[in-house]
Amino acid sequence: MVKPRVFSGIQPSGELHLGNFYGAIQNWVSMQDRFDCVYCIVDYHAVTSRTGRESDKFQDPAHESISAMSVQMAGDLIACGIDPQRSILFCQSDVPEHTELAWIFSCVASHGDLARMTQFKEKASRNDYVSVGLFTYPVLQAADILLYRAAKVPVGADQIQHLELARRIGRRFNTLVGEDYFPDVEAELTDGNRIMSLADPSQKMSKSLGDKHYVGLMEEPEAIWGKFRAAVTDSGQEVGEQMSAGVANLFELLTLTGTPQKAIHVFMAQHAAGNIRYGDLKKSVHENIIRVLSPIRDRRSKMSDDTISDILAEGAVRASEIAQETMAVVRDHVGVRPPRIS
Ligand code: TRP
Repeated sequence: MVKPRVFSGIQPSGELHLGNFYGAIQNWVSMQDRFDCVYCIVDYHAVTSRTGRESDKFQDPAHESISAMSVQMAGDLIACGIDPQRSILFCQSDVPEHTELAWIFSCVASHGDLARMTQFKEKASRNDYVSVGLFTYPVLQAADILLYRAAKVPVGADQIQHLELARRIGRRFNTLVGEDYFPDVEAELTDGNRIMSLADPSQKMSKSLGDKHYVGLMEEPEAIWGKFRAAVTDSGQEVGEQMSAGVANLFELLTLTGTPQKAIHVFMAQHAAGNIRYGDLKKSVHENIIRVLSPIRDRRSKMSDDTISDILAEGAVRASEIAQETMAVVRDHVGVRPPRIS
């Protein structure tokens, strides 16, 4: 039986954190059993975040190169359980058909639709320089997905609008060529588990908030403990009062790490009775997180950059095969002949 194809992409933004892990990556890992998965490190998307200020440089000493960050991201994903044997794991810039199809799609998408993208509006309002690439970012994203004719795309809720656009572009293309070539794109929400920042539990865990807000998957256990010890809870609650966001976040982590229900119930009962010691709760969360993260750290430490690069090269070969097939059909439909040189 042919398994339906899944595609998803992640920007090479540096080390993964617990929010990424429980909000997305764990889903990516488990989908490998049921689907034909294609996972892409979208390095060309990352270029948009290096040209948002007048003062930006593509490369500066404060940042690792996009390539180095892509290799790091690939290593982290493999350590988390993305299996390059079963799934295709590759880097977007290794398969030039992504940008090629993005151009065709930029002639298919409507300017009005792009102008409505809330992520664009939000980023544009924060940037002091707004590139055309930031504006057409969702067009490249649509190309990523449709190049593999993927039907299912695991993403966070903030990407739903981009996926609706991808669906519109696919349909519009189909209308333009008079054939149902691209399938309808469907989002599969992965961030049912929203991990909040430890230092400000009203916000989603994110690296951009600063170091004390997130827990990196590869951090040393002592460093992780430091962050949990300082995590915001509350100053004791009245019996029967609703649980504060910080404490709820700690309980959520206990559940996600597979802590035995019995142990969780003990803390729950103490919380309800108003005599819980948050220090003990944090210790338990820390222990359980370390239990989950240790094997990931071990796997990661055994991978060299060269090994990871070889895996990405193999992924690119497999991705290229599908991408070239799609691009040949698209060129033909558009009326552009195959390249005269290859
Ligand atoms: N825009 C996505 C994000 O920020 C990343 C992305 C790029 C993506 N291309 C994709 C996600 C294709 C899913 C499918 O998370």
